[in-house]
Amino acid sequence: MARAARAPAAPAHLPDPLMSVDLLTWYAERARELPWRGAGASPYRSWVSEVMLQQTRVEVVRGYFNRWMLALPTVEDLANAPLDDVLALWSGLGYYSRARNLHAGAKVVVAAGGFPTSFEGWRALPGVGDYIAGAVCSIALGLDEPAVDGNLERVLARVHSHPGGRAEITALARRLLPAGRAGDWNQALMDLGSSLCGPKSARCEECPLLAHCGAGREGQALEFPLKKAKRVAPARVAVGALLRRGEAVLLGRRQPQGLFGGLFELPGALLAEADPAADPELHPTDREDALRSALALAVADGAGLRLGVGALRGTVDHTLTHMRLQLYVFEAEVLSGAPAARVDGPWDTLRWILPSERASIGLSTLATKALDLPLRPAQGTLF
Ligand code: ADE
Repeated sequence: MARAARAPAAPAHLPDPLMSVDLLTWYAERARELPWRGAGASPYRSWVSEVMLQQTRVEVVRGYFNRWMLALPTVEDLANAPLDDVLALWSGLGYYSRARNLHAGAKVVVAAGGFPTSFEGWRALPGVGDYIAGAVCSIALGLDEPAVDGNLERVLARVHSHPGGRAEITALARRLLPAGRAGDWNQALMDLGSSLCGPKSARCEECPLLAHCGAGREGQALEFPLKKAKRVAPARVAVGALLRRGEAVLLGRRQPQGLFGGLFELPGALLAEADPAADPELHPTDREDALRSALALAVADGAGLRLGVGALRGTVDHTLTHMRLQLYVFEAEVLSGAPAARVDGPWDTLRWILPSERASIGLSTLATKALDLPLRPAQGTLF
């Protein structure tokens, strides 16, 4: 490639105007059409889209984003919506604290009479870190701010044959920003990182930055950024009760704060790491009995219901960023006590939920998997 033979990449401490021109030209020709870009960009739309995009692929986010904007077209609509509706719109995206933070942030924005106009102002909103603040400020407000996510970090680490690391790459990204074009520049790098310059494959011969890219020109793109040693998330054990009344299933809505906050789930508990019932050395039969007792105790303590815990329906494996979960789901029945609409335990309400109501409540992916466990043959799934 003729362009690859150009002079060495600019040192990391200097901006490279030719790199910006090549990148922005590529972006002008190849930018993906996305509902939060171009005429679709606004502080609200950019904020919501970036929060969704933090954990989910663009193609999946499109649908969620469009449904969200139909239901909650303005920040005022979001601020005034019940949290349950917001969580229902988020259902399936995971990381529900992000939806709760958007909701809380919208209330702050409305109370302040408008959106922040500076990076620091955005950064002060709940759940808004350097990445989201930088993305919204550059894309929707036209401010010269970098927005370094995993894609940008990878692309810039490769361009500069740099070992990587968020803080150093952010400083580098700030120096490289073409004044007045940060929004396009950031998004071009995002697009590059999610197309040609992937974590496991790099199509350097098609890349507009090849002439500027230290690692690419050496055929070493995949060596950068340097790999971190993988940590294995610890596995935790949880128990859940399947309680049925006709077609309905009893679900508890977790208190608003903490893991799965505000979402409906099977009544049960995440066992402490030191709980004897979570001991992997236990014989399976002893373990099931220990888990049954732990479940009965948790629902008695948390909801004032005495349960008879029956057969093990199945187990659900679920991975969160900071832990792996194994949920044991047991058939159960209420022996005494009545589920209360207001409780003061891990849940703030207990409700019998019909299959038809499932789409309108915030249900974690873990609870969805538990409800979708197959029944014994010929019974179908629960919902
Ligand atoms: N990933 C995160 N933010 C993005 C954006 N604004 N455009 C495309 N991909 C993204």
